[in-house]
Amino acid sequence: MRCGACRGVVVEVVILPDPGAVARFVADSIEQLLSTRPDVVLGLATGSSPLGTYAELVRRHRAGVVSFAAATAFLLDEYIGLPVGHPESYRAFIETHFAGQVDIDPRNVHVPGGTAVGGALEAACAQYEADIRAAGGVDLQLLGIGGDGHLGFNEPTSSLASRTRIKTLTDQTRHDNARFFDGLDDVPRHVVTQGIGTILDARHLVLIATGAGKAAPVARAVEGPLTSMCPASAIQLHPTVTVVIDEAAATELTLADYFRNTLAHKPPWQTVSPPPTR
Ligand code: F6R
Repeated sequence: MRCGACRGVVVEVVILPDPGAVARFVADSIEQLLSTRPDVVLGLATGSSPLGTYAELVRRHRAGVVSFAAATAFLLDEYIGLPVGHPESYRAFIETHFAGQVDIDPRNVHVPGGTAVGGALEAACAQYEADIRAAGGVDLQLLGIGGDGHLGFNEPTSSLASRTRIKTLTDQTRHDNARFFDGLDDVPRHVVTQGIGTILDARHLVLIATGAGKAAPVARAVEGPLTSMCPASAIQLHPTVTVVIDEAAATELTLADYFRNTLAHKPPWQTVSPPPTR
């Protein structure tokens, strides 16, 4: 299905039958963008939500449909304190599930915090902002959403104007992410994350959510008040957002039928929009 965001209009919500359809829809958007902008700058999320999309992009790369040879990627966030190469570090995650499976130049895959430790981290955060700017800004930013409404690792009460910085995870996020580790004690307490202001600078935001566990935070982000208590509600400030969810994640949306109708009656001239010109 090739329809999606109206350029510069609203948060558009695309409700699809299942996670596979979500992955294919988002991969279509990225494939379309690559066809006009091979040197695309992608903002990459980690965690389980974008896994299907990455698998689909890897499949298309192997089939010769897409190339990332000229692309650049900036990760949203990274844990602090995991040893280099730890399988749950987001650098390792993206290498395993995406970057290491396609032809992107590893030198063009950036992780906030880089290799900095301790007191050097703050300077590394400022450098990350400078690196994004130097690359021309992020064209398409993939996002997931936390159970507590976090965006990146911007936990509730994060400034909606925040930039890349060190954050402390909430207990809820540490519990949610313990499934990836041997136990709760192994989940780091601190992270480096792009700020909400950083994320909002991207030209096109694509938020992926699947499963019933995401129904409440998706409804808060899309239909709730704009509030730092639900950092993902900041997407309402952005002119070009596509929220791509499955039916299970749509169950708490008051306007679900409106979103379905909008998609079903999309005029043929509205396609997934390329981001505004750099
Ligand atoms: C990951 C990130 C987080 C996740 C969120 C949802 O880079 O920024 O905001 O998107 O915690 O995680 P999953 O997708 O595992 O449910």
